[in-house]
Amino acid sequence: MKPVSFYIVTDTHYLNNNLEPGGEAFEKNMITEQYFVKESGAIIRSVADRIIQDKDTDIVIIPGDLVKNGEKESHKGFLEELYRLKDNGKKVYVLTAGHDYNDSAYVLKGDGRVSVEGTDYNDLCEMYRDFGYGDAVAFDEPTHSYVAEISDGIRMLAIHCDSKEQPKGAMDNRLLDWSKEQIDKAKEDNCDIFAVCHYPVIPSVPVFDLVGEAKIKDWKTVASFLADNGVELVLTGHMHIQSINEFYTEKGNRLIDVCTSALVGSPAKYRKITVDESSVLTVKTLGIEDFEWDLNGLTPQEYFDNHFASAIIARVRGALNGGHGIVKHIKSFVRKRFDRITVRTVKRLLFIKRDKSFDSKNFAELIGEIGTGIFSGDGAHTEGTPVYNLISGILDRFSFVIKKVEPKLCKNGEKIDLRKMLLDTIGNNKGFSDNDAEFRLK
Ligand SMILES: [Fe+2]
Ligand SMILES: [Fe+2]
Repeated sequence: MKPVSFYIVTDTHYLNNNLEPGGEAFEKNMITEQYFVKESGAIIRSVADRIIQDKDTDIVIIPGDLVKNGEKESHKGFLEELYRLKDNGKKVYVLTAGHDYNDSAYVLKGDGRVSVEGTDYNDLCEMYRDFGYGDAVAFDEPTHSYVAEISDGIRMLAIHCDSKEQPKGAMDNRLLDWSKEQIDKAKEDNCDIFAVCHYPVIPSVPVFDLVGEAKIKDWKTVASFLADNGVELVLTGHMHIQSINEFYTEKGNRLIDVCTSALVGSPAKYRKITVDESSVLTVKTLGIEDFEWDLNGLTPQEYFDNHFASAIIARVRGALNGGHGIVKHIKSFVRKRFDRITVRTVKRLLFIKRDKSFDSKNFAELIGEIGTGIFSGDGAHTEGTPVYNLISGILDRFSFVIKKVEPKLCKNGEKIDLRKMLLDTIGNNKGFSDNDAEFRLK
């Protein structure tokens, strides 16, 4: 691939504070939310400032979920920030996604929802004309997918798989055919081509293979289609997670999926990607160094991660409601003690003996840390580490449940090993980092 460098910033989920979010309903919603909403503008402004300061890279790619939930007012504010980047010499290419259009937009205010002006799906391309759509060398009307030549001899195939008219999170045969034409045309014109897609093409972590909307539908077909047609790199978002994955097709071709987290919530990263003269692709992850907000004395990273860890714990606590019969009783028993349970208690209940190094740790807190760790990439809990030992011990105790569940999770007759999937999700065994990595492209 020819030399190029660009920033990838995604899932900015901007909410314009002119809409005055707040009140009981808003605060309640934030308890289980991964990302920050009121802070989004300040975070985006700070990152835009950093990008403007970098005189070596003038391309910025944003693959979707630009605003919170399709509010017209949020698009207006977000566009102002994009025009500021443009006025400072940056070329910005956006792809819109599911959170960018909404016929019944609302903002949480007081004790409920207050309707606000939404955004029609069909208006988005015109609204973002100066940020990719206007420069398109090819445009697919039904899905808003497009191709732009972002630099001399380098084209970006922006695959919109989150449009209103098409199956959500999927590339149907028509879109595959259109993409094939664009890839062939790029080759004919002696251009290199890479792809951008809101949904991850390769599941970010093994367990996401079991989660419907965590990756594009029929991901192996799509990954093979791209790789076997000479597309080696796809940049993705949507799952708010830092991951880099490789997939090899039956023909031996490779696709690299670089999935970047939401900018406005833990782990709150963006990336600078460079391809040099020797076709070495370098992925460098950047964090939010500062933003204009009262962080109560925390660093931005602590502010993001602490909130997300609490949100995970709140979600787990929520999941302990409901159920029937014995399940309801067990859930209720655990819920009442959830905040007080230590790792030691869990081990005693499940007769797990090994590793006493963190027995006094609060179990809920540990769940929060494991969760934030998964989304930050580079899962630290590899074989032999205390958390690995604990989780594998718990999974062993529940092996009878796993055996029952596994056949139900099988797809296309492929057997799954749920225990391995879960353990590979908490520990990165890929041999390269999810954050900073290098690959030699063709
Ligand atoms: Fe998102
Ligand atoms: Fe999304």
